Amino acid sequence: MSGRPHCLRPIARNGGGADRTKGALAIARKWIYFILARRAQQPWWRQVVATIVCVGLRRNIGTFFIRFKDYQVSIHILGISCFYHDSAACIVRDGSILAAAQEERFTRKKHDPRFPRNAIKYCLEEADIKIHDVGYVVFYDKPILTFERILMSYLTVAPKGLRSWLEAMPLWLGQKLHIPKVIKKETGYDGDVLFTEHHEAHAASAFYPSPFNEAAILTIDGVGEWATGSYGFGKNKDITLLKELHFPDSVGLLYSAFTYFTGFKVNSGEYKLMGLAPYGMPRYKDLILSELVDMKEDGSVRLDLSYFDFLGGLRMTSKRFAKLFGGPPRKPEAEITQREMDIAASIQAVAEEIMLRMATHVHKETGQENLCLAGGVALNCVANGRILREGPFENIWIQPAAGDAGGAMGAALSVWYRYLGNDRPNPNDNDSQQGSYLGPSFSNEAVRTFLESKGYPFHRLNGSETSRAVAEQVAEGKIVGYMAGRMEFGPRALGARSILGDPRRQDTQTVMNLKIKYRESFRPFAPSVIEEKASEYFEMNRPSPYMLLVADVQKERRISQPSRDGVSMLERLKVKRSDIPAVTHLDYSARLQTVNRTHKPDYYDVISEFEKLTGCAVIVNTSFNVRGEPIICSPEDAYRCFMRTEMDVLVMEDCILFKEEQPPWQESEEWRDELELD
Ligand SMILES: [Fe+2]
Repeated sequence: MSGRPHCLRPIARNGGGADRTKGALAIARKWIYFILARRAQQPWWRQVVATIVCVGLRRNIGTFFIRFKDYQVSIHILGISCFYHDSAACIVRDGSILAAAQEERFTRKKHDPRFPRNAIKYCLEEADIKIHDVGYVVFYDKPILTFERILMSYLTVAPKGLRSWLEAMPLWLGQKLHIPKVIKKETGYDGDVLFTEHHEAHAASAFYPSPFNEAAILTIDGVGEWATGSYGFGKNKDITLLKELHFPDSVGLLYSAFTYFTGFKVNSGEYKLMGLAPYGMPRYKDLILSELVDMKEDGSVRLDLSYFDFLGGLRMTSKRFAKLFGGPPRKPEAEITQREMDIAASIQAVAEEIMLRMATHVHKETGQENLCLAGGVALNCVANGRILREGPFENIWIQPAAGDAGGAMGAALSVWYRYLGNDRPNPNDNDSQQGSYLGPSFSNEAVRTFLESKGYPFHRLNGSETSRAVAEQVAEGKIVGYMAGRMEFGPRALGARSILGDPRRQDTQTVMNLKIKYRESFRPFAPSVIEEKASEYFEMNRPSPYMLLVADVQKERRISQPSRDGVSMLERLKVKRSDIPAVTHLDYSARLQTVNRTHKPDYYDVISEFEKLTGCAVIVNTSFNVRGEPIICSPEDAYRCFMRTEMDVLVMEDCILFKEEQPPWQESEEWRDELELD
């Protein structure tokens, strides 16, 4: 990895715009906000005087009485990530994360890369402020550096890649290179826009919400501006990044190349490749390491670019790559053969080895006992599990929104701690991610109003009845859609927007895959387990609240399997592997979520009630959506998904709906065509 300097600095300003008076007031207001924030410990009368002056600068004096508290000391920072994949917004007040959400949840377009105007609107509503009350807006990436990288990549391969270059240019010239203007146009924000570097944002999203005062930091993704990975350490409010790995050498792009080659969608289907790996043997591992990747002792990589085509932006792999692996890439939706399974096992083994080496090197260089991870590759929970079990660190913490959505949060926190220099409170072993339940919620009244307005039949439940009713339905073998509390931030459903099932039943996996999710049946489901009972079921002795660690099912629960030879993938799937077969993968692994009462009492109670009924403290948890659709957000999304699938029961806050009581669903089968398959 090569060293590069790091600092957070604005590279563009748009203070004032055409209206100079308004601009001057905005600057004065920000200046006073800044003084106020720095002097929160000053006598009360100084705060009052400054508050009155501050409010005097506001256009709407009437809000003074409503917002008196806010103006005393609060600074709001809005972080934005967009225009690549997974747009998102996050709002931070005085260093506390108030809200964060991905744009896809509102627009219903999976991985929506467009400007996150809906996510921003939601963040402002949650903070109960207007855009003019935001002290700082920060973008998670420096587009001018990314543009430089793309330009240089193109010049390297020109004239190849001309078409993709021309296709990309309008968005660059119209939006990506004019972020402050776009933000002003879309939101009305009239202050300066700050920029963090892409991996700075990832690093900040990994360290600041973590439960550690001090920790090593490792970020790994496809590519940011030039960096594709970085490491360093965090201590209190400071982050120091020591080294970076630069494009085109990228662990994320390497993994994505295999995602493409095995017929899955890049930047979306990587977790399918990981799920396919246990079906294969890593017989291409040595070939990958001898031909494609030069893996160094510190885990950094050098790719042989003759096997890849991503420099020109047309496709991920070259003809030479196909020749090496015995034929062309698998076409999307074509049958998955043993070759794809073996390729998946091989690249997964390589990725794990790279990540383990990186972690070992970072430990040696920083001397820290804790590790924070972020970047899209940190969603590889199998590799994370190995780092935890076999790596040198005592503890690891992974940002649940490890991909680019989390960059919005990292950028906002970076401004609070690094740019403004505020102290970081002692985390006291608790992370500040709040279970990642940072999205919108809908009250009992809101749900009822929706159902009544549509005339959909439902029953009301009282308080503790809800968890019991959900548990009873699941114990009877029903598939239950469950929507409760604030929506999750990040790609995993954690019991706020989940579909639940019985893990003891052999057929749960097949039913959920084919009748609910409409997807390939090889993929395993994840278990949610009561935190204090996790070690009774899995070889895991610590919390895994964000479903980002894989652990094996306890040995005494496993059932030995017959020989795999000559048995098809689907046949292998039907063999019972443990006493919780629906969540036990072919290699006895499980991608588990531990649930505690502090972060998610309603969901904890559902699993507790299920245990009382069945003796099993585990429940199947898969995201509340169908294939190609973002996870549901609102009651309307939930009802639509409920009726489109063979789900039996829907629970939304204190309302329960049964499929057989619902009116016929009026929609043509074409709704499936509108969803882009991932
Ligand atoms: Fe990234």
